Amino acid sequence: MSEELTKVPESKGSHAKRKVFVKTYGCQMNVYDSARMTDALTSDGYEETSDLADADLVLINTCHIREKAAEKVYSQLGRLREMKKSRQERGREFIIGVTGCVAQAEGDEILRREKSVDLVMGPQAYHRLPEALKKVRESGPSVDTDYAIEDKFEHLPAQNRKSVQARGVSAFLTVQEGCDKFCTFCVVPYTRGSEVSRPLAQIMDEARQLVEAGVREITLLGQNVNAWHGADGNGNEAGLGMLLEQLSQIEGLARLRYTTSHPRDMDDGLIAAHATNPKLMPYLHLPVQAGSDRILKAMNRKHTASDYIALIKRIRAANPDLALSGDFIVGFPGETDEDFEETMRLIEEVNYAQAFSFKYSPRPGTPGADMPDHVPEDVKSARLERLQALLIKQQREFAQNCVGREIDLLLEKPGRMEGQLVGRSPWLQSVIIDTKTSKIGDNIKIGDIIRVRITEAGPNSLFAEFAEA
Ligand code: 5AD
Ligand code: SF4
Repeated sequence: MSEELTKVPESKGSHAKRKVFVKTYGCQMNVYDSARMTDALTSDGYEETSDLADADLVLINTCHIREKAAEKVYSQLGRLREMKKSRQERGREFIIGVTGCVAQAEGDEILRREKSVDLVMGPQAYHRLPEALKKVRESGPSVDTDYAIEDKFEHLPAQNRKSVQARGVSAFLTVQEGCDKFCTFCVVPYTRGSEVSRPLAQIMDEARQLVEAGVREITLLGQNVNAWHGADGNGNEAGLGMLLEQLSQIEGLARLRYTTSHPRDMDDGLIAAHATNPKLMPYLHLPVQAGSDRILKAMNRKHTASDYIALIKRIRAANPDLALSGDFIVGFPGETDEDFEETMRLIEEVNYAQAFSFKYSPRPGTPGADMPDHVPEDVKSARLERLQALLIKQQREFAQNCVGREIDLLLEKPGRMEGQLVGRSPWLQSVIIDTKTSKIGDNIKIGDIIRVRITEAGPNSLFAEFAEA
């Protein structure tokens, strides 16, 4: 980085706050991390802005999970370089930071390829962000991709009450990070490191703070969230079912969810929680990726298709009303037409309420990338199209079956039309209600949970009316 690009005169007066713009890609863990970074910066004198033109600091929180993620980041950085140049000509500070999984995977390479970048920071280092920015101002570009020995969450300041409120009544809370499973398609074990669970007391404190700030629903996050384990109050080791039980004791907290889970970590305590914990919503994201045992083995999933089906049966026995969601990869190396048909049969058998599906994309450094028999792109596309048609059909049927049912709706935000409010069903669907159609409508507000009847299923949302009290 050249001198004139790094030693920028600070244009802000002592009373004007610096502004940070954060752009988030990827999963909910990144959404949570972006929020925590923003909180750390607002505690350090920054203000958040949603207007890039107004920012003094831009953080791109990146995702590395699928195709060309790094290339997309570089092309975006090219555009920011132009912005930085024109800012600097006007004597204004403009710091560009790349965080997240691309930062972790690429490290120094980012600074080599894009000279306008000031800061590269991996996901385990976010608690050092204010300090790193100081370093950037004093001595130029900084790279921090160390896996911290200390716990980043313990060192991040408490969630900022005002920004929690601004983010709404449903919040994310990361309870576990990293992954030791080493599925052969996945970069996560390399970008997020090995599995770590946050301690129970730390999670409880953060959850209480969220609820005090008005949060009604918490979604526990982890790359392998159901691998969470920790000591309960009596010092006994326990799993996610216990954590959910403890969290459900918090008064004012109405709903709990968790994502993403691995089939091998669905232990008895967690399955039982779906039967016994009334605050735990009847929705489970449980990726299987493929339905062929040969491919599951090549993916190193460590379970078979029939193990997964048997597990689903046990979970549905605990709560027959549970909506299932999953992730699928088509075209993993070596996947034949017959393997793919087995995935289709598994989907038919399970019947998903929602799902995410992807074409396999070789990730450098993962074993899958070096496997023989890569599937041609056109075959991947044709398989994905068929698979998605089936999943969309199942999703529509699930939504259609909701019509006529009475449900509890957590109101989250105003709708697009005047008088509308939008909330979430227990099964995570978006539900729209028109408050003008009933007197009850005058008395309700965001954050309330109201009883409604589903009247119609649209392609992306359900519509509902007030159910008589
Ligand atoms: N190619 C395609 N999809 C992938 N996923 C993870 N790695 C890859 C890859 N290399 C999908 C999996 C995972 C979801 C988050 O992304 O389905 O569950
Ligand atoms: Fe993407 Fe995985 Fe990183 Fe999340 S953890 S941002 S899904 S690579």
